[in-house]
Amino acid sequence: MARKPKIKKAKEVKKAKKTKALISKKPVVQKELQTLRGMKDILPGEQKYWFFLQRKAEKFFIGSGFSKIDVPILEAKNLFVRAVGTHTDIVEKEMFSFVDLGGEEVCLRPEATASIARAYIQHGMINLPQPVKLYYYGPMFRHERPQAGRLRQFWQLGFEILGDGHPAVDAETIILAFNFCKELGLNTSVSINSIGCSSCRSKYTAELIDYYQTKKKLICDSCKKRLTKNPLRLLDCKEEKCQSVKEEAPQIVDWLCEECKSHFVKVLEYLDEIGIPYNLNPYLVRGLDYYTRTVFEIISEEREEEKQDSLGGGGRYDDLIKFLGGRPTPACGFAFGAERILQVIKKKNLPIPELEKPMVFLAQLGEAARRKILTLFEELRKEGIYPASNLSKDGLKPQLEFANKLGVKFVLLLGQKEVTDGTAIIKDMESGAQEVVNFKKAAFEIKKKLANV
Ligand code: HAM
Repeated sequence: MARKPKIKKAKEVKKAKKTKALISKKPVVQKELQTLRGMKDILPGEQKYWFFLQRKAEKFFIGSGFSKIDVPILEAKNLFVRAVGTHTDIVEKEMFSFVDLGGEEVCLRPEATASIARAYIQHGMINLPQPVKLYYYGPMFRHERPQAGRLRQFWQLGFEILGDGHPAVDAETIILAFNFCKELGLNTSVSINSIGCSSCRSKYTAELIDYYQTKKKLICDSCKKRLTKNPLRLLDCKEEKCQSVKEEAPQIVDWLCEECKSHFVKVLEYLDEIGIPYNLNPYLVRGLDYYTRTVFEIISEEREEEKQDSLGGGGRYDDLIKFLGGRPTPACGFAFGAERILQVIKKKNLPIPELEKPMVFLAQLGEAARRKILTLFEELRKEGIYPASNLSKDGLKPQLEFANKLGVKFVLLLGQKEVTDGTAIIKDMESGAQEVVNFKKAAFEIKKKLANV
């Protein structure tokens, strides 16, 4: 008998918990409608970081004599198959490709260098004064296994110098990438190698294959495949069991022809000249087939501590434009992963400027005031002021609360009395002071006040 009310109480508690859970639960998007794996929304709270990076890039690259280029996100699949290479991970496993409604094989760009080489040929940029210096900022797509700093849609900030084969251009590319990081407040180092030209590289790969054939029993299955399909990538293997084999492997620098050797030495001398720290990395080969001679990556100290991938990579690609049908045009370039840069900026807690806020809020009380205030949008716009508002709200309190949240400096307020009198109230949100002004002069008065902020 005594237990009955207790049961009732437990039920009530359970019911209350359920109600609370229902109230506090976020609306759920059905699983199949959520963002795809490895793809992310960039929400308003994140935007200040993205604006920061974009503005820094604009200032830095335009100031350094580059022009911005935007190439399509969707391109012919064959462009990347040919440029990046049939036996690369990108082409073999990672392309978001499909047949479009017109029956064409297309793909979401996995990178932008091939597109820029295509644009260089297509728009006759060879006729411009050389070198042509271009930079870009946009999303790329690779169907990789998502993990920290590795997404399926990610943004690259990249730049290319087309039409100049001088080793000083390789050094310039490295200096630009290094200095851009410095400008952001990141500590980085450069990992560098030369993979020679097609002629010395083919002699080297023959030697590499011979060596690995004798070690076949000791290497992983992927390396066994690389041995026949893409031998240079043997040097990129991270598998524990392949490391000792790799350490004993012939090194490409010993196989460079005289021209490639002298080119590489000059690049290093230029870097020494200006004191850019670099590590010679005989295993750096990069994952795209178009490279010739200098290849390099920028490593951030913070990411290196966590053994994460590089912030960005690039190199020379002297054969690509000819290979895609253009005239022989040497070129060199580099791309950062934007998410990786932002990851380090956040980790280091570097100061990022807040986004601009609206300065003025238009508040109204009553239908007549609402109608009248609509005319102020145009008046203020003419003065170069873009006001915020919440026109569906009737009460003053919720509108002022909203204005407060936005952090505006002034509220321009109109009620029934002001409509009748032909006036408006300007409220200073910091001091709370209010001033009645002539409605017709309201836009001008606001502008005057903003000029003194
Ligand atoms: P990449 O090394 O393939 O080179 O990519 C450059 C950078 O993009 C990487 O270092 C990394 O920061 C970022 N990245 C690559 N894949 C992902 C991913 N799945 N998730 C997040 N970030 C990623 C290129 O793409 C060449 N086009 C660079 C270049 C320009 N070479 C000459 N010019």
